[in-house]
Amino acid sequence: MRRTVATLHAVPRKVPPSTERLRTRRGLRVAFVRIPGFLDEAMMRRAIARKRDGGALEDRVWHDIIASYLADAIDDAQLAALLMASTIRGLDADETAALTSAFVASGETLHAPDARTVDKHSSGGVADTASLVVVPLVAACGVPVAKLSGRALGHTGGTLDKLEALPGLRTDLAPEAFFSIVARVGCAIAAQSARLVPADKRIYALRDRTSTVPAPGLIAASIVSKKIAGGAHAIVYDVKCGNGAFMHDIAGASALARSLVTLTRAFGRRARAIVSDMNEPLGRAIGTGLELCEARDLLRGTHDDPRLLAIVMRLGSAMLAVAVPSSFDAALARTSLEAALRSGRAYETFVAMLVAQGGSARDLETMAPHPISIDAVAERAGYVTGIETVELGERARDLVAASGARAGIVVRARVGDRIARGETFATVHGDDDAAMVAAVARCFTIGEDAPQAGTLVYDETGEGSDDVSVATGAARTPARSTLERK
Ligand code: URA
Ligand code: CA
Repeated sequence: MRRTVATLHAVPRKVPPSTERLRTRRGLRVAFVRIPGFLDEAMMRRAIARKRDGGALEDRVWHDIIASYLADAIDDAQLAALLMASTIRGLDADETAALTSAFVASGETLHAPDARTVDKHSSGGVADTASLVVVPLVAACGVPVAKLSGRALGHTGGTLDKLEALPGLRTDLAPEAFFSIVARVGCAIAAQSARLVPADKRIYALRDRTSTVPAPGLIAASIVSKKIAGGAHAIVYDVKCGNGAFMHDIAGASALARSLVTLTRAFGRRARAIVSDMNEPLGRAIGTGLELCEARDLLRGTHDDPRLLAIVMRLGSAMLAVAVPSSFDAALARTSLEAALRSGRAYETFVAMLVAQGGSARDLETMAPHPISIDAVAERAGYVTGIETVELGERARDLVAASGARAGIVVRARVGDRIARGETFATVHGDDDAAMVAAVARCFTIGEDAPQAGTLVYDETGEGSDDVSVATGAARTPARSTLERK
C-alpha cells in the first residue's frame, strides 16, 4: 500500500507547495501533465459528485484527495462536502482500505522491534479503565504491549489524561524511548504524536465541525490508520456499544468490529475485536485521577469490580491470542492472567511503567480521591433500571475541570441493583456543589421491577480462534472498594 503512495507523491509531502507554485502547476497540468498526488478544484468537484450519486472512488483518488488537502491544494469546503457524501452513501471495503492507507502514508510510521508486540484500542466509553489494568497485566504475562492512546473525546475519558493525573508522568515519548521502555518494563503507553497520521488529526477536526463523525468507513480508517502507524504487530479492539458509546446498536458495532479486524489484517497485522456493553459506566470511578486509583486498586488487589475485571480478562485473553496465535490456549491464557494479577506481578509492572514514564511510585501509592465528597442518594426505593451514561461522563469531566484530577464520581449502584430510599447511587468528589449532586442523582432511573440481566460482551471476532457471538452475562454483585468512603 505504501508502494502506490510513493509513486503518487512525486511532490515531497513534507514541503507543501505554495499556493503560487500550485497555481502555476495547475496551469501546466491542463496543458501538459497532471502533477501526481494533487487534485484541482474541478477534479475534486467530480469526485464529490461521484460520491454524492452513490459511486465509489478509486484508490489513487483517495490518496490524491488526502495529499491535496494536507498541502492546502483543496479547501475545507470541498473536503467537507465529500465527507458528508461519504457519510450518507458509505464507503465500500476497498474505499475504506484506500483511505486508511492514505491516512497511514500522511505521516511517519513506527515499527515495534518485537514481532509479538500488541496494542489495544477502545472506541471510547465512561469509566473505561480497562487499558490501565490490561496493559501491565498482559505485559506481566511476557507479551510486550506498546499502546498509543488519545485524549478524552466528548463525554468519554482519555487514557492519557488519566495517566497524567500522576504528577510528572510523561506520555509524549519519542519512538526510541517508547520502545525502549516496552523492552525494559514490558509495556508503555504513549501519546499519539502529531507526526503519526497528521491527515486524521486535521480531518477529524473537520468531521467534528460538520457532523460527519458517525460514519463507519471514516471511523474505521481513522482508528486503524493510527494503530498501523503506531507499529504494533497485533491489535485488539474493544468496540463499545450502548447509551454511553458512540455506537448505539449491536449490529452497527459488530459491523464496525469486523471491519476493524479485516482492515488491520489487510495491512499484514493480526487483529481481534470484541463488542462490549456501555449502557452504564464500565468501572466504578469516573474522572482522571479516580480512574487511575481504581486501576491501581484492582491491580494491587484492594478493589474488586466484577464488571471491569471481566472485560479486563476478556481483553487480556484476546491480546495474548493475537500476540502468538499459533501457541494460544484459552484456558492457559486465563490461568496466566489470573496468576499475574494475584501474584502482584501485574501491579509491579504497572508501577515500573509509570516510574519509567516519569511518575513516582510513592505518589501513586498515596493518591486519594478529592477529600470533599457528597453522596447522591435515592429519593425512593426500587431497582436501578437505567443510567444516563453520557451525562455521568460529562458531569465527571466538569468536576475534574472545576476541582482537579482527584475529583469525579464514584458509582455505587449498577443497573439491576435494588436500592433503598436514602441509599447512595454515587459519591461526588470535588468542591461543594449541590446542583452537581442533584444532576448526578438524576442520572439514575428507578423502577418497580428488576430489569432483565444485561450482557457484557455482545460479539467477538478475529485471530486466535473462531468467531464467538455468544453473549456473556455480567456479574452484578456489589464489590468492596478502596474508593468507598471511610
Ligand atoms: N475514534 C477515532 O479515533 N476516530 C473516529 O473516527 C472515531 C473514534
Ligand atoms: Ca481510548
